[in-house]
Amino acid sequence: MVSIGVLGYGVVGSGVVELIQRNIGNLPSKIGDDLSVQKILVRNMGKYKENQNLLTDKFEELLNEDIQIIVEVMGGLNPAYHYVKKALEMKKHVVTANKDLIAAYGDELSGIAENNGVTLAYEASVGGGIPILRPIGESLAANEISQIVAILNGTTNFILTKMYEENRSYEDALKEAQALGFAEANPESDVMGYDAARKLAILSAIAYNRKIDWQEIPTEGICQLDKEDMDYARKQGCTIKLLAMSHMTDKGLYGAVRPVLVPSGGSLGKIENEFNGIFIKGDAVGEMMFTGKGAGKLPTASAVLGDIVHIIQNNKKEKKACTREKISVTGLWDMPGNWFLRIQTSERYKMMAVLGQLFQTCNIFAEEEKERGEVAVVVEVKNEEELNEKIEYLQSKLGIMNVKKIMKLGEKA
Ligand code: HSE
Repeated sequence: MVSIGVLGYGVVGSGVVELIQRNIGNLPSKIGDDLSVQKILVRNMGKYKENQNLLTDKFEELLNEDIQIIVEVMGGLNPAYHYVKKALEMKKHVVTANKDLIAAYGDELSGIAENNGVTLAYEASVGGGIPILRPIGESLAANEISQIVAILNGTTNFILTKMYEENRSYEDALKEAQALGFAEANPESDVMGYDAARKLAILSAIAYNRKIDWQEIPTEGICQLDKEDMDYARKQGCTIKLLAMSHMTDKGLYGAVRPVLVPSGGSLGKIENEFNGIFIKGDAVGEMMFTGKGAGKLPTASAVLGDIVHIIQNNKKEKKACTREKISVTGLWDMPGNWFLRIQTSERYKMMAVLGQLFQTCNIFAEEEKERGEVAVVVEVKNEEELNEKIEYLQSKLGIMNVKKIMKLGEKA
């Protein structure tokens, strides 16, 4: 019998307990052992009606019981960090869905796990129910991964889908995502792109086998996007997605989270609502796409259970994250590409002439932008540095105040 202790009984915690209890009949035949939830740590014991016999508000009880695996689904850094550290030191395997924790302390905690001969597993921290970390770390280990382009935040993808397809306002769509339990306690983390940046750092560390500080990843959220951006996207046969992207460059790792125009019928454009999508390129396997529900109670619980089963079946250590070499991150896109610009100006004709001289390929939009006092244009440049220099030139020479730029990807990233 393998006994589980669960830290936290919110959306994901209740999903984990429900999934274990629901599958109790067929799990043993799959994993070769019985599984049972022994204790659930909660802050307020009076708040819950179900499984009251399992509830405790004392963390020590989970350490004292004969519990082999601790599932941490409380979220946030404190007290999760202290509890996970203590559990590992007490030689208990830990499974967590906590991306904040892994992005901040993953290396340290992996080191503690390794020193104590136990496993720290965190599949649920990236991509919700999509198995992605273990496939990249194990199944695709023979590959050199060269690129990741991903939708890693369900809340923002939900909001952008509703804005694009149903013409809904940003605020209205965010409220619905919160009601459905996708959004973080503080949704700023979703809409500013921090949640996706943390997940990109965790994923990229495994893909490129490097240590990555998520706070070095330049992050642009979706708050500044409006209905007009969606209209312009539609006119180009595109939609807008919050993409988390990384690839190796001569100068280090390119890594960024930013809104990007993608073809609406393409593989990333078709990923809707709370679904996530992860496109990767490996030197042996070629291009691969993983998709599935990136947020929500049971999809996330599914990934947690996957880790539990993996620990039981293998009872071996995960990859040694603590020995990875640190790599720094640059957020400037270094490849040739197209960019959509909205330039506020009262002198449209002068601006169009200057743009024509400045950029070799420059497709200017139609008439309606007149009313908006702007020029909307798709330009092609050899990299983002060149684009920024040209935008700076426009701003300094022509006194332009506001330039909005959105990267535009083709069907292939
Ligand atoms: N807030 C996160 C999201 C939850 O929307 O993707 C899953 O990590």
